[in-house]
Amino acid sequence: MSVPEKVQFFDQLRGAVSAGTFVRVNLGHPLRDDDAVHNIFVRPVQLRDGLYLSFTYRHAKRDVVKNLVPEDAYVLLEELIGGSFANAFLSLTTGTAQLTLRKGRSARLILGRAEVAAVPSLTHDRPKERMVSQQAPWLKELGVTNPDGTIRPSMEAKFRQIHRFVELLSPLLTEARLLAGEHPLRVTDMGAGKGYLTFALHEHLRSVALRPVSTRGVEVRTDLVEHTNAVVRRMRWEGLEFVPGSIAGTPLDRTDVVIALHACDTATDDALARGIDAGATLLVVAPCCHKEIRPQIVPPAVLAGALHHGILLEREAEFLTDALRAALLECAGYEPRVFEFISPEHTSKNLMIVAIKREATVDTKARTRVQELARFYGVKEQRLAKRLGISLI
Ligand SMILES: C[S@@+](CC[C@H](N)C(=O)[O-])C[C@H]1O[C@@H](n2cnc3c(N)ncnc32)[C@H](O)[C@@H]1O
Repeated sequence: MSVPEKVQFFDQLRGAVSAGTFVRVNLGHPLRDDDAVHNIFVRPVQLRDGLYLSFTYRHAKRDVVKNLVPEDAYVLLEELIGGSFANAFLSLTTGTAQLTLRKGRSARLILGRAEVAAVPSLTHDRPKERMVSQQAPWLKELGVTNPDGTIRPSMEAKFRQIHRFVELLSPLLTEARLLAGEHPLRVTDMGAGKGYLTFALHEHLRSVALRPVSTRGVEVRTDLVEHTNAVVRRMRWEGLEFVPGSIAGTPLDRTDVVIALHACDTATDDALARGIDAGATLLVVAPCCHKEIRPQIVPPAVLAGALHHGILLEREAEFLTDALRAALLECAGYEPRVFEFISPEHTSKNLMIVAIKREATVDTKARTRVQELARFYGVKEQRLAKRLGISLI
């Protein structure tokens, strides 16, 4: 272990484990494509015969846990960092250290401010390792948690949503090969609101990306922009800012990731169109109200009776809008996925569309599918189609 940055990282880790100030190590950015383990999370646990470091190996669909005494844990971590994972994020109650080690590149160690003030419970049966720590100071600042780190009763659903969002995005960022690169990673959150997801994503990226991260939240309400920027200042975070403006009108330079969760009606289409224009590799939207299509639907004869019922017409309009969006994303060279991202018992607006850029060329077969689908329902206009210059008639 002759790399000085690695030596310094392990000195900090060993010192913190002895002093009781060690919070966690997260390993990310697997170095082999075939590696089934996306991340490893390491935390201290107090067992009957002493202190252990508990390793959680996160696979796509399951976690595997093993506990090691600290000296064995250090040996394993030394092998894993730079061997299986390029990125190691160390969190102590006194500060953070992010180590990046890749073959052929010089090592990088970035030291930062502490993200938590105290070590969480050391009991072994602690709930599953969370991707968003309940103790994160920004959650307190945004009113999601109380000063003692417990979740406010009225914010439990919001916390679940924030957590699920990061959990879903984490493997997508790896799949889209966004964690490493020559330039800073640029993220834009359209319709950022109170910034819950913007803060969560920025914090997550800071701990897993191998390049600086620059995150911008665009929000039309200036009071919210002032509030979120004030929180950024209090947190003394770098690379995160909120700007006032509309999704359609705010200039967007090159960006790698565009997210827009619950932006109203066609604002979702504007966000997708802006992301496509800006060459984004990853687009993530959770559509909100679907007003544009409903009044245009002229039901085909076989559906006329069913769509006479308002609720069925509303659901059909939602289905059609999002089906068109997915097909339009294919037209633009993206691979779309549509799924429920949180249980419908928490919110009915739980559909998520994720798209990863695959092709530079326009898919003409997808264009035909879009037109056939629109024609079937008599729909002549849809915002994203218009923004992409695709005629529905
Ligand atoms: C329902 S909130 C969602 C906030 C955040 N994305 C989330 O999911 O937690 C929608 C936010 O988008 C903002 N918004 C709606 N339409 C917008 C537009 N066209 N341009 C910019 N912001 C917009 C609203 O002011 C509001 O703060």
